[in-house]
Amino acid sequence: MELCVALDLPTSFENLELAKKLKDKNIWLKVGLRSFIRDGKKLIKDIKEINPKFKIFLDLKIYDIPNTMADAAESMANLGIDMFNVHASSGKTAMRSVMERLSEMQKPPLVLAVTALTSFDEKNFQIIYGDSIKEKVKQFAKDAYESGLNGVVCSVFESALIKSNTDDNFITLTPGIRLENDNLDDQKRVASVQKASEEKSNIIVVGRPVYTSVNPLEVVEKIMKRM
Ligand code: C5P
Repeated sequence: MELCVALDLPTSFENLELAKKLKDKNIWLKVGLRSFIRDGKKLIKDIKEINPKFKIFLDLKIYDIPNTMADAAESMANLGIDMFNVHASSGKTAMRSVMERLSEMQKPPLVLAVTALTSFDEKNFQIIYGDSIKEKVKQFAKDAYESGLNGVVCSVFESALIKSNTDDNFITLTPGIRLENDNLDDQKRVASVQKASEEKSNIIVVGRPVYTSVNPLEVVEKIMKRM
């Protein structure tokens, strides 16, 4: 299992300070919408300058028509990032067009599909998607797998189920991880590091429990010890 720390802080300076504190760790760093809209490709360059071995996950969760998604995928890949994601609900044609475009590149990034956001509870998910989280996640994961993607973003609670419905090598990246005594924030379906490991999660994403701590390095080390 690997750890991915979310760089969700309000300024580029704070994100880079966090990255500097974690610079000796073999981890992923996640650049999300807020940071990327604000700081753009300079942030990617600055992170790689702190440690070129940091793996960068660009979490923009793209959703659009197939050609626009493929164009965006190519632009993201050209930033030198290591992984990005799309919404599985964009459909198989769109996901295939992304993978086809990347297949022309020498070292394409990994591509994951978002299944159900971990902030959804069953009731609100049903209103939008008209089905239970479990059923829809199974279908989205299968769609992503059949479209040639490398894995999915899902909650810990669906990780093992997805692997049994696709392939053990199909990556599951799971946000919504909390240590004991942590605040749940807006996450609804949270799990411990141990539970993530039991459910065969490949990469766990941790944001607030790390970056709101007075000692982020200590929290990261604590998490890594449990992985
Ligand atoms: O602070 P916290 O640990 O809740 O951060 C989780 C991170 O993972 C956030 O950056 C959030 O946008 C992201 N994420 C998520 N649920 C998903 C996909 C991404 O929480 N399904």
